[in-house]
Amino acid sequence: MKILFGSDSKTSYDTAVITVSDTKKLGAKADILDSTLDGFVGHVIQSTPHFKAEFGQTLTIPLPKKSAYRQVLVLGLGTPKDLDDSKARRLGGKLGVALNQANAKKVSYLFEDHSDVKPDLLLQIAEGLLRRNYHFGQYQTKKDADKRTLESINFNSDAGKELNEQFLHIEKTVAGISLVKDLVTTPPNDLYPESFAAIVEKELKPLGVKVKIFDEKKLEKMGAGALLAVGKGSARPPRLVVLEYNGLGKDSKGPSFGMVGKGITFDTGGNNIKTSMMEEMKFDMGGAASVTGAMKILASQNAKVHVVAALAMAENMVSNNAYRPSDIITSLSGQTIEVLNTDAEGRLVMCDALTYIQETYGVKKIIDIATLTGAMMVALGLEYAGVFTNNDELFETISGAAKASGEKLWRMPLDPVWAEELKNAAADMQNISKSRWAGSATAAHFLQNFIKEDVAWAHFDIAGVVWANKANDLHGAGATGYGAALLAKLAEAA
Ligand code: BES
Ligand code: ZN
Ligand code: ZN
Repeated sequence: MKILFGSDSKTSYDTAVITVSDTKKLGAKADILDSTLDGFVGHVIQSTPHFKAEFGQTLTIPLPKKSAYRQVLVLGLGTPKDLDDSKARRLGGKLGVALNQANAKKVSYLFEDHSDVKPDLLLQIAEGLLRRNYHFGQYQTKKDADKRTLESINFNSDAGKELNEQFLHIEKTVAGISLVKDLVTTPPNDLYPESFAAIVEKELKPLGVKVKIFDEKKLEKMGAGALLAVGKGSARPPRLVVLEYNGLGKDSKGPSFGMVGKGITFDTGGNNIKTSMMEEMKFDMGGAASVTGAMKILASQNAKVHVVAALAMAENMVSNNAYRPSDIITSLSGQTIEVLNTDAEGRLVMCDALTYIQETYGVKKIIDIATLTGAMMVALGLEYAGVFTNNDELFETISGAAKASGEKLWRMPLDPVWAEELKNAAADMQNISKSRWAGSATAAHFLQNFIKEDVAWAHFDIAGVVWANKANDLHGAGATGYGAALLAKLAEAA
């Protein structure tokens, strides 16, 4: 979909969007339009009692033949002065849904320069619209009901030139978020470690990101025993993908920020086979997807940062070669782990990736992101990600980035008391807790065993937020794209 700011007299539009506040009074541009229609639009708005012009409420009015437009869509702003960035994004999402419902193709948005709405907010409205308009259609051979008719929208504003320039930046953020949605939605018969690594390379290399792919032989040599153990049961071998983006050039003293993502392309649970929700487990690579999206955003925006990332990719399968509960494995760090549950595989692939970037790049600030525990969904539900961190200052930065990107999160506790839960008689630790309580915190504690003392680290458990059962204003039902925008902001701030 094409989005443009400023006036354009060449295009012929089928739909005009006008905005009204809860006073339901027409603005100057709408008034001009309505004077060519003998006051028809104003009349319909006033005489439709259920249309109160509340925030995001819409009213589509078909226009008579003589009109320049086929229809006008009236968008309610509620109380315009209450609009902030995040509400404006949601407003754009609602507008997009309504426009597609109205079969709009070419749209002219008549921005009222004299209203309380600053022209800047058009950027967020356009962002929300673009994000909500995402559609994954690769596997549909028939045109379905979830169609997107929107082809272009022109935001009629005097500030067009600056807005167009600023929007180039936002479009890149949205492209990163859409990439996350594509990756998470692609089914596991097509997205598995090798193909996932190839897509990441294809997406990021042209943007100047260094991409290193470690296959099973290299992982063996390296000693990444935990990642290898998880991937062993699959005919599709594991991969570690290491990404480096240097936006500082020669001035850089090395990457200052590291990201690690869980990339389980399908999680059957392994020998501890899942008894429920297995069909959802294609999204178990959502952490790696969000890191990929963040790298795409940073590199395409030429961000002035130097970051490194590691994606731990494996497929957790049941087979005669799969790892077993009671196997003792040696992680890349040298620490040994007794596997007591093959379904707690995320922490195993993550620990090797965490070790790798600390030892190879010496980064002192690291975030990891993973669909790690079902317990996280029990604790925080489907809206909030849980964040565990050993560093208060880092949490402040995370919190600021999340506010800016509009992604919700909540801080969770790390506590040495949980060491006891992971103690093991035969090995250095075990991969599940002795008790059933605080499953997300004990998983976080497991990961902390692989974090060096002087490293500021945060762990995002996104089990609940990676996938939505129902649509909201910024995404349809399905992949949410959580994390990409937030991590990109964080990389720039940290
Ligand atoms: N991928 C799952 C976590 C998950 C479950 C995410 C449901 C989203 C929805 C993870 O690998 C897993 O299976 N964790 C186990 C850990 C347990 C065996 C300690 C879990 O949460 O049940
Ligand atoms: Zn699992
Ligand atoms: Zn998993």
